Amino acid sequence: MLKIAVLISGVGSNLQAILDAINAKNIDAQVIAIISNRTKAKGLDRAREHKIPAYVIPSRKNQSRQEYDQGLSEVINRLNPDLIVLAGFMRILTEEFVNQFTGKLINIHPSLLPKYKGLDTHQRAIDAGDTEHGCSVHFVTPELDGGPIIAQALVSIEKNDDIQSLSAKVQAQEHKLYPLVVEWFANKQLELLEDKIFFNNELLSKPHCI
Ligand code: GRF
Repeated sequence: MLKIAVLISGVGSNLQAILDAINAKNIDAQVIAIISNRTKAKGLDRAREHKIPAYVIPSRKNQSRQEYDQGLSEVINRLNPDLIVLAGFMRILTEEFVNQFTGKLINIHPSLLPKYKGLDTHQRAIDAGDTEHGCSVHFVTPELDGGPIIAQALVSIEKNDDIQSLSAKVQAQEHKLYPLVVEWFANKQLELLEDKIFFNNELLSKPHCI
C-alpha cells in the first residue's frame, strides 16, 4: 500500500480530499504523516481527527533555508514515504531537498501552469482578462512551480467572478484533481524518468485534463 506524507501550512482542504478518497476506498494508500511548518495550521486538526501522526517543524530564527530543509528531509527520510504530497505547503524548497525526492514529490498549484507561477494566481488571471483558469498537479523540481505537469483541471472565468468566487471554483476542482493523481500513484500508473512523465508506461505528451 502506498505510504504518503502530506506537507501543509494551512487549512488542509486538499489533504482532507485525499483522506476522504482513501476512506472511500478510491485510493489504496495510507497517509502515514502530516507535516506542518506552522504550529497553528488548521490542517493539523485533521491529523488528530484521523489519528495520523503529525509533525510540526517550525522554522527557527536565523535558520537558513538549507538548515530547515535538512531537518525536514531527516524527518521525511525516517518516515520513508513512497509519495510526498505538498498540499498548500508555503515554503520554497531548496534544490538539495527537491533533488533527494525526485519522482515522488508532487505539488498542486492554483493556476494553469506554466501560467502564473508563484502567488496571487486568481487575481492575476482576472486582471489579465482570462476566460479560463484552473489548477495543476506537477512533479516538483528545483524551479518553483516549474516541474513536469501531470494533470490540470479547468474552470471558466465569468464576468462577475471575483477572487472569492474564482478561488472557490478552483478549489472545488483541486479536491477532485489531487485525489485522482494520488490514485494513479497508488496504482503505479505514474512515473517520472529524467524529466518526462510516463502514464501506464507511455510517454505523457501533454497534461491530463479533467
Ligand atoms: C491550494 O489552493 C493549493 O493550490 C495551494 O495552496 C492551497 C492549499 O489549500 N498550493 P488547502 O490548505 O489544501 O486548503
